[in-house]
Amino acid sequence: MIPSSKLGTHTIPQVGFGLWQVKDQTDLDRSVIAALDAGYRHFDTAQIYGNEAMLGTVLQKADLTRDELFITTKISVQNFRKPTVRKSFEQSLINLQTEYVDLLLLHFPVTGLRKGAWQVLESILADGQARSIGVSNYTVRHLKQLKKYATVMPAVNQVELHVYLQQPELLEYCKQEGIVVEAYSPLAHGKGLDDETLAKLAKKYSKTPAQIMLRWCLQVGAIPLPKSVTPERIVQNIDIFDFKLSAADMTTLSSLDKNMRTCWDPTRVP
Ligand code: A2P
Repeated sequence: MIPSSKLGTHTIPQVGFGLWQVKDQTDLDRSVIAALDAGYRHFDTAQIYGNEAMLGTVLQKADLTRDELFITTKISVQNFRKPTVRKSFEQSLINLQTEYVDLLLLHFPVTGLRKGAWQVLESILADGQARSIGVSNYTVRHLKQLKKYATVMPAVNQVELHVYLQQPELLEYCKQEGIVVEAYSPLAHGKGLDDETLAKLAKKYSKTPAQIMLRWCLQVGAIPLPKSVTPERIVQNIDIFDFKLSAADMTTLSSLDKNMRTCWDPTRVP
């Protein structure tokens, strides 16, 4: 069993299985089964990924009780109007074949609509259909703005985070506010795994470059959500709890930061 962190009144496993771009039923079934076998209990989907129903079906077949699983989904940008947030979420619950999600996120800081959408998430939380609520792709500026109108602060901010996009100010602000940071694309989408510094550290710790990248996430206090459809990699990506990068090696890894985004850039979103 992998370690968990506290999240409000419940806990969150410290590595999640990312399902972005897993659209094929065979790939999804095979990879989720491999993930469950490897010990993953935390699954991260979204309305826009188009795989909630597939995930719901495969998890139903697993020999686990609902409270052994941690399921996250996210409200898509096109569903941010107040009535649609609730309606689309009800559909997500049907797709996932569950009465609640462990974590519900707003997928993006949509201009003009995010305040109303957050108020609906607060009501979903109060109704017990989400155990925690949070946001994704929010910058410090978006979080500060949310703080002015929120009754409940987000439990989580899920952002792109990896050694090539280290976002120290965002990490610091989230820490101050008690917001857990989740790292999506923690492997920078597979770009940069052949870096020399990573290779040296991989050799030193008898791990792979991917494991060094994921361990870096843990040590900056984030929860990585690696995606893979390859069984050996799925096993490898959760096998990161038996070593610790030294402070000097963490400093060496700081030098890899180059503000490289492989995905959405929310920094200029008003
Ligand atoms: P695949 O799914 O074919 O195994 P990220 O999570 O940062 O978005 O990265 C996902 C990409 O990284 C996918 O292309 C995935 O390939 C690849 N990947 C996942 N785990 C590993 C690993 N341990 N070693 C090398 N590549 C990996």
